Amino acid sequence: MKKTKTIILGIESSCDETAVAIIDNHKNILSHVLLSSIDEHQKYGGVVPEIAARSHLLSLDSLTAQAMKEAAIDYKDLSAVAATGGPGLIGGVMVGMMGAKAIALACHIPLIAVNHLEGHALIARLTHDVSFPFLLLLVSGGHCQILICENVNEYHLLGTTIDDALGEVYDKLARMMGLGYPGGPLIEKLALKGDENRFDLPRPLKGRPNCDFSFSGLKTKVRQIIEGWEEDEINLQDAADLSASFQKAVADCLEDRLKRAIKIALDYHPSLSDFVIAGGVAANQYLRGQLENLACQKGLSLKAPPLSLCTDNGVMIAWAGLERFQQGLTDSLDFKPRPRWPLDKNLKR
Ligand code: KG4
Ligand code: ZN
Repeated sequence: MKKTKTIILGIESSCDETAVAIIDNHKNILSHVLLSSIDEHQKYGGVVPEIAARSHLLSLDSLTAQAMKEAAIDYKDLSAVAATGGPGLIGGVMVGMMGAKAIALACHIPLIAVNHLEGHALIARLTHDVSFPFLLLLVSGGHCQILICENVNEYHLLGTTIDDALGEVYDKLARMMGLGYPGGPLIEKLALKGDENRFDLPRPLKGRPNCDFSFSGLKTKVRQIIEGWEEDEINLQDAADLSASFQKAVADCLEDRLKRAIKIALDYHPSLSDFVIAGGVAANQYLRGQLENLACQKGLSLKAPPLSLCTDNGVMIAWAGLERFQQGLTDSLDFKPRPRWPLDKNLKR
């Protein structure tokens, strides 16, 4: 019998979150379960790939069962199964992909290998009214990119970081100040009590002609300031002021690069009106506020997913899977997980 509703199960396992979600083509989230192995990585100050992979292996089955139970559906109701096929920590990606392949094989349904970045890129289309083409700032622990999203599976890269990803810098800075992991939310919170004008920090690549980012000079300057503090224990007000000054420098850099990108995007597509931010760092309220102002100035409308859908989650994989499924983009069971996988098909990495 032909299925009237499209129901997709999505699996995310490219970093430290094992997440499973089930959605339908009416934009209903039928279930969304997530387990993070973050506590196991805390003492190392970052995600340890082997620990993450083992944790995905231990929890994927039970999370899938839980998601099915919460959605109150049967396996025969699924139209397709989607999983992150890369980029990411390859052990974890393999675990999620194998789980998805097993479901596809047993249920005789299509498999969809989703690019994790496409998951971040498209999720705002589930939560907001966003149509193609739109401008995207994708800021996560592994990436910092500006893209024009032309369509599903069709992306044009305008700029990327030439060194560190933004989330990575937040994490390193937090580690230097002994705050913990992940650094983004901790620095954001601390910055609320700080003076953003106290430290004079560089704005790397500001004013340069392209749309690329660089954060290593900013990171080095921050490290030198911390190393210059003489006390054994870091003073909380100093840390708050440094966090606030850092966030201001980051916002300035993003704004400068985005102004160029917006001009290019509008030259390509004069009717483009949506500016989407996505990825873990997009959960940052301060940066969201600054980018909202920029969008307003430029006559664009900022569309940002809710915080829980900015950081890694299964809904974004299920949604990108649904968008691909609707375009007839499915994959064969011999799909090989990809540690690197650029969104712009003209680029090799
Ligand atoms: O997208 P995501 O969950 O995983 C990757 O695909 O990388 O992003 C994780 C990154 C981490 O570096 C984390 O510190 C950062 O996002 N992050 C934030 C915030 N919440 C998470 N950065 C700044 N402010 C936040 N509120
Ligand atoms: Zn991510």
